[in-house]
Amino acid sequence: MPKKKSPRKRKSRFTAATADKYELYEMSVQSPEPDVAFLARVYKKERGKQALHFREDFSGTGALTAQWIKRSRRHTAEAFDIDPEPLAWGRERHFAPMGKAGARAVLHQADVRDPSRKRPDVRCAQNFSYWIFMTRAEMLHYLRGCHEDLARDGILVLDMFGGPEAMQEMEEETEQDGGFSYVWDQDEFWPVTHEASLAIHFRFKDGSEMRNAFTYRWRLWTMPEMTDLLYEAGFARVDPYWEGTDKDGESGNGVYTKTRRGENDLAWVSYLVALK
Ligand SMILES: C[S@@+](CC[C@H](N)C(=O)[O-])C[C@H]1O[C@@H](n2cnc3c(N)ncnc32)[C@H](O)[C@@H]1O
Repeated sequence: MPKKKSPRKRKSRFTAATADKYELYEMSVQSPEPDVAFLARVYKKERGKQALHFREDFSGTGALTAQWIKRSRRHTAEAFDIDPEPLAWGRERHFAPMGKAGARAVLHQADVRDPSRKRPDVRCAQNFSYWIFMTRAEMLHYLRGCHEDLARDGILVLDMFGGPEAMQEMEEETEQDGGFSYVWDQDEFWPVTHEASLAIHFRFKDGSEMRNAFTYRWRLWTMPEMTDLLYEAGFARVDPYWEGTDKDGESGNGVYTKTRRGENDLAWVSYLVALK
């Protein structure tokens, strides 16, 4: 499910023995250019000015942070991740090649509940990572911290996935550009608590497999639950954004617009934009 890219066919240059899991992850699930363009566009539309300082929570390799600071010399950013490994990968692959410009981003090896160095105009948590917070109290604590830490006109953007298929125990394999497959494994789902065990595997043309390259234990939060929590955390307005549909009417077109109802798709990815 959490995948925002469509595949193209090519020869494989990867095997389980030689592939780099962060490279495969970025190729399979991340689209920093449209994601950052969306964040900047929403802020501009709501606030009538340009957002300059950005914060990426659960940043992993900091792909969005890197994309943000490329926007101009005035754009700065902070990325937060608890794990030194993806941060080191991002430093080497995204920021070092930028030379001096890379210093406009500060990568914190820290908990997302820690305060920013500078109050962000836009803060985001992508690819559902904030679903590590399992209880209402934990989620509210995180969201209150986000609200307090934002700049005066700041916005918080969270992505969501859902639909009946999100609650099914199933595997979805998608062929990726580069000649490998991305496997999203919804291994277990508990209807009583909405806890889920999820994993990402990669399969290669030579028959090899990188199993459990990434594993997650999340609570599958719903749109109304998150909306209520955001208001309770102090946000003045919460706008859901829904993805439009391609001409074929089958797949998403990557264009997100405000909605009050959404569409009853089997599986969907959407955003909540919370305004301070
Ligand atoms: C699914 S990855 C997200 C990567 C990236 N944000 C994306 O959009 O694909 C989740 C990341 O959250 C980090 N993480 C988990 N708990 C955290 C916490 N309490 N504070 C900071 N980072 C955390 C993990 O180390 C991991 O790199």
